[in-house]
Amino acid sequence: MLGPVILAASRSDALRRTVSAAPVTKPVVDRFIAGESITETTPVVRAAADRGLEVTLDVLGEDVTDPAEALLARDAYLRLVDALAPLGLGPRAEMSVKLSSFGQALPGGHDLALKNATAVVEAAAAIGTTVTLDAEDHTTLDSTLAIHGELRERFPGTGAVVQSYLFRTEEDCRALAAAGSRVRLVKGAYKEPASVAYQDKAEVDRAYIRCLKILMAGTGYPMVGTHDPRIIAIAQDLASRAGRKIDAYEFQMLYGIRAAEQDRLAAEGHRVRVYIAYGTDWYGYFMRRLAERPANLAFFLRSLVTR
Ligand code: FDA
Repeated sequence: MLGPVILAASRSDALRRTVSAAPVTKPVVDRFIAGESITETTPVVRAAADRGLEVTLDVLGEDVTDPAEALLARDAYLRLVDALAPLGLGPRAEMSVKLSSFGQALPGGHDLALKNATAVVEAAAAIGTTVTLDAEDHTTLDSTLAIHGELRERFPGTGAVVQSYLFRTEEDCRALAAAGSRVRLVKGAYKEPASVAYQDKAEVDRAYIRCLKILMAGTGYPMVGTHDPRIIAIAQDLASRAGRKIDAYEFQMLYGIRAAEQDRLAAEGHRVRVYIAYGTDWYGYFMRRLAERPANLAFFLRSLVTR
């Protein structure tokens, strides 16, 4: 029951200021965030590549409130592309983008987000890599999937994310499971109303498996975004039943979560991509990680009292 409370807190500006300023917060945040800058994050990318892992990089930021901020967010991604180029990892280092950081919620935001995303996707293509559009709250999904469709006309490798907690997602999976389409399936990390999303964890898990079946049976490239050991085993089984080779889908996990499992799957020959977030605007991302697992909250609270 704590999850929804923490997710509500993730939208509070007052709490954002308090938690962000607390001196004890940083070491706890560091478990999930690779660094505050590209310079701090590049060694983390190199270390992942040395472990045989692929990465997707997220410059932290969401829900910008004016077009100038959206441009700053776009420019941060363009600097990221410049930093990735000399690493020579090509598609092994891609990027994940939240369109709300590119101005999607502002007046005229759909076009603004499309314009900013196009600049980043073009720059990514120039160094041989791709961009995946993260899924945010359900009110943004139609716009995000439309932008995904528009970007795919010129850049077919642009990835989409679907959340199994939404009732609509099986249908979205059917529409997306087409040739050349990269689709990350996740359970979903936002607080959503019962009118659009399953509230019960078991139902979200069952929906995840139904969506996975659709993606694995399709002709696209499924990206299985989960740390759930049961679902990972089911994904392997569904992939082999669908006749997929081991490199015809991939697993994705978040930086700081189940690193040993990432290594185990990579050692078995699986493609494993780690989602690495960096930057200073970490509050929303961090709070969603706390909400996913109450034990993280206990860890966070303990760090406050044992100081
Ligand atoms: P579940 O929550 O059932 O966890 C299974 C197990 O994983 C737990 O028992 C625990 O061991 C471990 N675990 C999970 N979360 C943990 C945490 N925070 N800390 C420590 N251990 C944890 N969501 C979204 O709405 N939009 C998006 O674009 C994305 N993008 C995305 C990319 C990638 C690569 C991943 C892996 C996830 C996302 N998510 C996301 C988040 C996703 O929706 C979901 O909230 C988390 O992945 C947690 O769900 P699990 O599938 O891991 O299962």
